[in-house]
Amino acid sequence: MLEKLAPQKPDALLALIKLYAADDRADKIDLGVGVYRDNQGNTPVFKAIKAAEQRLFDTQDSKSYLGPEGDMGMVCGLLGHILGEDLAKDLTIDGLQTPGGTGAVRLAADTLYAAGARRIWLGTPSWPNHAPIFTASQFEVLTYRHMDVATQSLDMEALLSSLYKAEDGDVVLLHGCCHNPTGVDYTAEQWAHIVEIMAEKRLFPLVDFAYHGLGQGFEEDSAGLKTVLARLPQAMIAYSCDKNFGMYRDRVGALYAVAQDDAVMATTKSNMAALARANWSMPPDHGGAAVRIILDDAELTQMWRDEVAEMRSRMRWVRDTLAAAGTAGSVDFAPLATQNGMFSMLPLSPEQIQALRDDHAIYMAGSGRINIAGLTEGNIGKFIEAVAAVSG
Ligand code: LMR
Repeated sequence: MLEKLAPQKPDALLALIKLYAADDRADKIDLGVGVYRDNQGNTPVFKAIKAAEQRLFDTQDSKSYLGPEGDMGMVCGLLGHILGEDLAKDLTIDGLQTPGGTGAVRLAADTLYAAGARRIWLGTPSWPNHAPIFTASQFEVLTYRHMDVATQSLDMEALLSSLYKAEDGDVVLLHGCCHNPTGVDYTAEQWAHIVEIMAEKRLFPLVDFAYHGLGQGFEEDSAGLKTVLARLPQAMIAYSCDKNFGMYRDRVGALYAVAQDDAVMATTKSNMAALARANWSMPPDHGGAAVRIILDDAELTQMWRDEVAEMRSRMRWVRDTLAAAGTAGSVDFAPLATQNGMFSMLPLSPEQIQALRDDHAIYMAGSGRINIAGLTEGNIGKFIEAVAAVSG
């Protein structure tokens, strides 16, 4: 049986972690996988998480099963931060905990497939795992160009023409904020326009919300999602705490559904729970419990939000510093100041990306995506010079 399997290449993004680790040049720079780094290049555990984990250690008296929903205290506690307390109360919304944002996207795909959806529209480039997840869930993946990498501008025309071509019941994946991999988000007017067409064409929105708080601020980053929920009767939101709580390897996420009434909501939730049970039975608890402890405590919540604000402003500093450098060789850094979050995508050829790795020990995804947080006061000058050297 097993001999019939075709070999698979390791995930290119995750493979970069190993390649970088094996490089012994002291001045190497990691701009690969999406992990936040501070100005010293470290990825420390959040202080709020450390405090919550200590409390969990001191007080947890059982590790018995919670059920497929996971930690509902965490799931409900996040809602006020995602939507604001008022909207969270007004909407018919429910959710469950998932293993990271990836688990949330996969469970959304399985639930939507069970509901009869068969096609999903993805703007490309997108997170490289999006298409494989939907393909694994039996979807037909249809694409349009999200951004013109050369000009660093959103291709709104491609998006709108795809929405007009889409059919009743098609799913559209929208990045809530901090688009991965381009950093190019929609303006308020563009969100309104997109949502209007989706309402007209009866398209289903799945909002991937993995970088909440890391763009312009918690409230600002939710604005597009709120536009969606104000106009469309149903939606799903795949939320990740991996970045904004720094829980990467602990895999903390949530999937929410919004429905027009309680009956549809209850049936939807029962399907989500049944599919979760068939996929992973129940999510790992530790990370979700730590997030819940933070959200239940005003002081820890403030500590967490301050830590996210610090990350956000450091990444803004990187963007502004690159933009102030202007051009490096053929690369214009100016547009990066208008983009958001952890990623931008540079117009570099595969040969130039390889030369950055071979000649300058700079590691980035083969697509030209850079992790903004990999740049520090200590290495940003070297990075700008290296880009000039390979692209000049
Ligand atoms: C990324 O895009 O680098 C992260 O979301 C990590 C991952 O799972 O791909």
